[in-house]
Amino acid sequence: MDEQRHRRRLVLFSCPLQGHINPMLQLATILHSHSKGALSITIVHTHFNSPNPSNYPNFTFLPISDGLSQSQKKSYTEDVIAFMTLLNVNCVNPFRDCLVSKILSQKHEPQVGCIIYDSTMHFTQPVAESLQLPCIGFRTSSPMSFVAFAAFPVLHEKGYIPIRESELEALVPELPPLKVKDLPVVKTHNSEVFYQWVADMIKQTKASSGLIVNSFDSLDQSAFQLLSQEFAVPIFPIGPFHKFSPASSSSLLTQDQSCISWLNAQAPSSVIYISFGSSASISEAQLVEIAMGLANSEQSFLWVIRPGLVVSSCRSDNDKDKNEDDKFTEFLPQKFNEMMMSGRGCIVKWAPQEEVLAHPSVGGFWTHSGWNSTLESICEGVPMLCWPCSGDQKVNARCVSHVWRVGFQLENGLERGEIERSLRRLMIQENNKEREELMVRVKDLKEMAELCRRAGGSSFKSIEGLTEYIFSCNVPKIA
Ligand code: UDX
Repeated sequence: MDEQRHRRRLVLFSCPLQGHINPMLQLATILHSHSKGALSITIVHTHFNSPNPSNYPNFTFLPISDGLSQSQKKSYTEDVIAFMTLLNVNCVNPFRDCLVSKILSQKHEPQVGCIIYDSTMHFTQPVAESLQLPCIGFRTSSPMSFVAFAAFPVLHEKGYIPIRESELEALVPELPPLKVKDLPVVKTHNSEVFYQWVADMIKQTKASSGLIVNSFDSLDQSAFQLLSQEFAVPIFPIGPFHKFSPASSSSLLTQDQSCISWLNAQAPSSVIYISFGSSASISEAQLVEIAMGLANSEQSFLWVIRPGLVVSSCRSDNDKDKNEDDKFTEFLPQKFNEMMMSGRGCIVKWAPQEEVLAHPSVGGFWTHSGWNSTLESICEGVPMLCWPCSGDQKVNARCVSHVWRVGFQLENGLERGEIERSLRRLMIQENNKEREELMVRVKDLKEMAELCRRAGGSSFKSIEGLTEYIFSCNVPKIA
C-alpha cells in the first residue's frame, strides 16, 4: 500500500509518425529508468502506426481508435497538417474514454501523476484539463523551431507570412539568423488550417503545466531563453533523448542490418550516409538528379530509399504501390548502376540509423534535417549536408549551417551539378580546410552532448527536476 503511494502512473500520448514515436518512447524509457520504476508508464496510442509492445515489457500499451480511413492513413506524406488536424479531432473522445474507463478507474494502479503529450496533438491538454489532470507538453523538434511557431502572430503582423517569393532571402530580424525562406511554414491544401493548428498548439502549450524539449542547454542556449520568455511554464531541456535510452526499438520499419557489414568493408570516414527521414518524398526526376550527382562525385554512399520516398507523377494508383517498393530502380542511370556494381554504393529501405552514424566508415550525413536525425548526427560527430524539405527542418538546417556551423545546405534544390560539388566539399579529406573546420566544431558539440548527460550535467539535472516535478503534481483524488 505504502509502495503504491510512492509510485505514480505516467500517461504518454504521441503523434503516430516515426519521428515522433521514437523520441516519445525514448522519453518514457528515460523517466522509467531514472525513477527506478517508481513512475509506471502507460502509452496511449492510435491503432495507426502502433508501436510494438513486446519491445517494452515494462510499459502498458492502450490502443485508441483514430478514425482514419485507409487513404487518410497514407495521406501524411502529402499533407501532414491535414493529417494532424484530423487526428486532433478524431482522437478527442477515444482518448477521454480511455482515460476514464481504462486508467482513472483502476484503483489498484498507482495514481496518475500527469499526462505527457506531443505538442502537435494539442487536443490532449483540454481533455486532461476537463478531468483535472496535469498535462506536460513535449516537443519532438528543436526549441528554435518552436520559438518560430510562437512568433507567428508577430510574423503575420510584420508581413513575413504568408511568405512571398520576392522576400525569400530577407533576414527575419526578430528570429536571427533565420531568413524568410527558413520559417517553419508547411505546405498544405488550406493555409488557414495550418495557421489554426499552430495557434492551437501554442495556446495549449501555454495552458499546460510544463514543456519538455529534446535538446540540451549548451546547444540551444539562446533558443531556450527565448522559449522561457514566451512560455511561462517550467521548461525541461533533457536531450539528447536517444543517448539516455538504449538503441531504438520503436522503428516501424525493419532496420536492414546488412548495411553494417557493407560499412565494415569501407575505409574510415569515406561513406556519405543519405536519408530523408520517415515522411519526406521526392519525384522520379529528383531521384535521377541525386543518382547522377552521387555517381559524378565518386563518393561511396549508403542511401536509404524507403517505401514511399519516390513518388510517381503519372502512374495509376496500382502502379504507384508497385513504385513504392522496387520500381524506382528502373529510373536509375547507367553510370550510377555501374557504381553500385563496383561495390561503392549500398541502398537499403530502412537503416539502423544510430548505428550507421556511429560507424567509423561514415564521414558525412546528407539529411533532410529532421530534428532526430540532426541530434543523432551531432552526437556522433558527423558533419551534415542539409536538404530541408518542410516545416521545422528549415529552421534546423539554418542552425546547422549558420549557428553551430557543422554543415551546409543545398541551397538550390536537387540538381546534379550542385549535388556533386556539395558532396565533394563535404567528403573529400585531403587539403579540405572547410571539412577540417566542420569536424572540429562537430566534435566539440559531440563532447558537449556527452557532458550534459553525465551526473551533474544540465540534461541530467533537468531529468531529476522533471521527475521531482511529476511527483509533486497535484492530482485530485479519484472518488
Ligand atoms: C519529422 C520531422 O522532420 C522532425 O523534425 C520532427 O521532430 C519529427 O517529425 P522525420 O521526418 O521522420 O520526423 O525525421 P527525423 O526527425 O530525423 O526522424 C527520423 C527517425 O527515423 C530518426 O530517429 C532516425 O534514426 C530514424 N531512421 C531514419 C531510421 O531508424 N532508419 C532510417 O533509415 C532513417
